[in-house]
Amino acid sequence: MHEVTKSAIDSFNKIENPRHKFVIQKLVETIHRYIDDVQLTQNEWEFAIDFLTRTGQMCHGQRQEYILLSDVLGVSMLVDEINHSTNIEQTPSTVFGPFFIPNMPLRQYGESIVVDARDQQAEPLLITGQIFNQQHQAIEGARIEVWQTAENGMYSGQDPDQSVANLRGAFISQADGSYAIRSILPVSYQIPSDGTVGELLNYSHRHFWRPAHIHFMITAEGYKPLVTHLFLKGDEYLSGDAVFGVKERLIVEPETKIADTEFAHIFQAGQSYQSIQYQFVLTKDE
Ligand SMILES: [Fe+2]
Repeated sequence: MHEVTKSAIDSFNKIENPRHKFVIQKLVETIHRYIDDVQLTQNEWEFAIDFLTRTGQMCHGQRQEYILLSDVLGVSMLVDEINHSTNIEQTPSTVFGPFFIPNMPLRQYGESIVVDARDQQAEPLLITGQIFNQQHQAIEGARIEVWQTAENGMYSGQDPDQSVANLRGAFISQADGSYAIRSILPVSYQIPSDGTVGELLNYSHRHFWRPAHIHFMITAEGYKPLVTHLFLKGDEYLSGDAVFGVKERLIVEPETKIADTEFAHIFQAGQSYQSIQYQFVLTKDE
């Protein structure tokens, strides 16, 4: 071990929280080992500092280039795997992604998240199901945050022509755990290429595509939060997701249905729509 490595590690000896001390000292040790392993040059060090500086400068309230960088390096999915791989009962989690916006409108059972007229021409989609725990008990009052791309493959917040609340919203599960969200089908899209992540992927001859998906974040008192997506079966990018987020159990196949009395308050009778049904299973927070 280099003398400076030992000194740098030891300089953090006084951190009182043992976990924090361990994480920071291991970080110093690992970075030093990496730099030694690759024999980092002065130019490469300067490039790295500039790259990270520009990554930070890309970030603002509705853009998170660091999460995107974590995603394309596979780091987000590694953290997910380490923390959420415990059992097969619960719904699998996946990447949070950089496009979540907090405090979106609270919507009623079956309400549409499509706000902008431009996206109201598309065939409707109805996502229904229940929120359960692992004992198969319905969870009432779970908060379901949902967000997805518009038909142009962009999220609100990223696209200046969309209202911020377009294709976003929060729903609360009913007494039997049920929820119903009206939307449109998401499309596969390319992650932003105008920042440092774009530079990295272009340089590496990697593509920018993510398979079509809808984001969910489900929280309920007494349960671990669930951050996940539902992916659409048949998407050509399911096997090559730019951020490595696909899990088999999160792939769903929409069915074409004709509206009947069950959803008379949502659709006109005889109207055709796409239907996705999915039961989300949460884990108790012990
Ligand atoms: Fe996404």
